[in-house]
Amino acid sequence: MNILILGSGGREHAFAWKLAQSPLCDNLFVAPGNAGTALNATNLNIAATDFEAIAEAVRTNAIDLLLVGPEEPLVKGVVDYFRNKPEFSSLRIIGPDSVGAQLEGSKDFSKQFMVRHGIPAAASRTFTPETLDEGLEYLSGHSLPIVLKADGLAAGKGVIITENVTEAQDVLRTMLSGEKFGEAGSKVVVEQFLRGIELSVFVLSDGVNYKILPEAKDYKRIGEGDTGPNTGGMGAVSPVKFATAKFLQKVEEKVVKPTLAGLQKEGIRYVGFIFIGLMNVKEEPYVIEYNARMGDPETEVVLPRIQSDLAELLTAAADGELDKVQLQVSPQTAVTTVVVSGGYPDAYEKGKEITELTGLEDVTAFHAGTSPGHNGHVLTNGGRVLALTALANSLENAVQKSQKAARTVQFDGKYYRKDIGLDLIRYPD
Ligand code: AMP
Ligand code: GLY
Repeated sequence: MNILILGSGGREHAFAWKLAQSPLCDNLFVAPGNAGTALNATNLNIAATDFEAIAEAVRTNAIDLLLVGPEEPLVKGVVDYFRNKPEFSSLRIIGPDSVGAQLEGSKDFSKQFMVRHGIPAAASRTFTPETLDEGLEYLSGHSLPIVLKADGLAAGKGVIITENVTEAQDVLRTMLSGEKFGEAGSKVVVEQFLRGIELSVFVLSDGVNYKILPEAKDYKRIGEGDTGPNTGGMGAVSPVKFATAKFLQKVEEKVVKPTLAGLQKEGIRYVGFIFIGLMNVKEEPYVIEYNARMGDPETEVVLPRIQSDLAELLTAAADGELDKVQLQVSPQTAVTTVVVSGGYPDAYEKGKEITELTGLEDVTAFHAGTSPGHNGHVLTNGGRVLALTALANSLENAVQKSQKAARTVQFDGKYYRKDIGLDLIRYPD
């Protein structure tokens, strides 16, 4: 079959790398892709949100399966667009429609969904410009710290956590006025701060049946020791030591099953990935957020541990037959270190030549933000540039190999965290 992946990051390169290994995959395309996806697939110069051009590419290349990587096309309705056209009735699509994608696209929707279906989450209230005064009053009596979330997509910058009531009130005012996040801030969710340790759990759903994929831990802050501003993710590890079989069992019973049952009850046929951001609070799971897609850089540690054929899994998901296939997972540990452009997550420069990228030992170099230069050169083309994944028999070895690769690759302004996975090595047994 012919497969088209939408997106251009490390997640999409990991998908392309894994799908290219499948005997079921004849031709593989990525739109728009990057210099890394070009090694495993044919890049198409089409934006992931240009539905008309994507439809044309599906026709021209006789695509059988469309895999949507990022949230933006999902929330904007790429799946609805294809589902509404009889011409594409046999196209298999991995990703929810715009209603299902509201699990990620609206924090208020996802909060209310969790309340309706008894899914454990932080207590919260939602405010709009009409209820600003009530919100300011509510904040004055709120426990500290206070968590404020812009309702809509805000490129990972929509969550503010503060110890200061006056600051929280200012944030609420600026968000609701539209100054800060535009339309995305027209509703604000105010919620309780959860104290615990964070974990990402991934589910592949066919609408009824599901597979729980390997869990991962993401390193979100730019600085070592989890300091400084939030980023898209600076590294990831899978499996996660504190996610014991007992804890994961609780996640399945208290979160995964009610989430899928809730979607069905509400008439949402959810075919695709659900990424559940969880807080482990004294061995009890609380949902921090849902995403309607895989995580990045989590995909770069989750897929290398999946031994099953991904094309087979995705086909089964699209056909409502996930109960008929097996998910085989490697017991090895995967660690990825993300190498970023100097200045990220604020302003940074692009177009720097990357050297020492070939011949990295024991590591898969997933490209997160690169573009092809002249004469086979690879150039930086984003804040996050490379995700260097090692798979090894121990966490220590995987960390060492991934970090060695991060030391080896070179480009002007290179930065990476040197503490990926170290907290888990030190985590008590
Ligand atoms: P989000 O954009 O929803 O992923 O939130 C960004 C980060 O804020 C999360 O990864 C958590 O580290 C943190 N966060 C969000 N909600 C809460 C909460 N209720 N309690 C504590 N931390 C939170
Ligand atoms: N790494 C977090 C995310 O993909 O949203």
